[in-house]
Amino acid sequence: MNRVVCPGSFDPITFGHLDIIERASRLFDEVVIAVLVNQTKSSLFTVEERMEMIREVTAGYKNVKVDSWSGLLVDYCETNEIPVIVKGLRAVTDFDYELQMSQINLQLKGIETLFMSTAPAHSFLSSSLVKEIASYDGDVSSYIPEPLVGRLRERLALVKSTRVNQG
Ligand code: PNS
Repeated sequence: MNRVVCPGSFDPITFGHLDIIERASRLFDEVVIAVLVNQTKSSLFTVEERMEMIREVTAGYKNVKVDSWSGLLVDYCETNEIPVIVKGLRAVTDFDYELQMSQINLQLKGIETLFMSTAPAHSFLSSSLVKEIASYDGDVSSYIPEPLVGRLRERLALVKSTRVNQG
């Protein structure tokens, strides 16, 4: 069976991620979406919340599973016998970082990375931008699935009110 992992922080999952996942699900027998920790980012949602949102919006895909891992991605791959990572590339700005990650993952445990080019309609999209737009009450309904829009607004409002209360 051809199993691949689509790793990421997914904070929250966007239509850009879903495009890659959907296309990968047509190419491979099973796609595991793995929510991992990116130490360079602070997250708005807990890992459990992110998994729950991903499960909700990928429920229609029978060969897509959702999981999480708090260690190295290559250790996840080795433990779960998944030899291939699939990642989306939006633009050249992604390339340096993704190349470095793919090379280190190959060197650490022989795990291969396949890159899929993001559909042009999503090439500018990132979870960070979506959060920034929503934090200024901008419309993010074209960027994340409808059930997540309200959750994102609620979480941002909570964060804002916590900050105000803390002075
Ligand atoms: O969606 P992101 O934030 O671009 O995803 C990056 C992620 C989470 C896939 C990456 O940071 C990662 O693999 N984290 C787990 C730790 C790890 O294996 N790091 C790479 C080798 S140093």
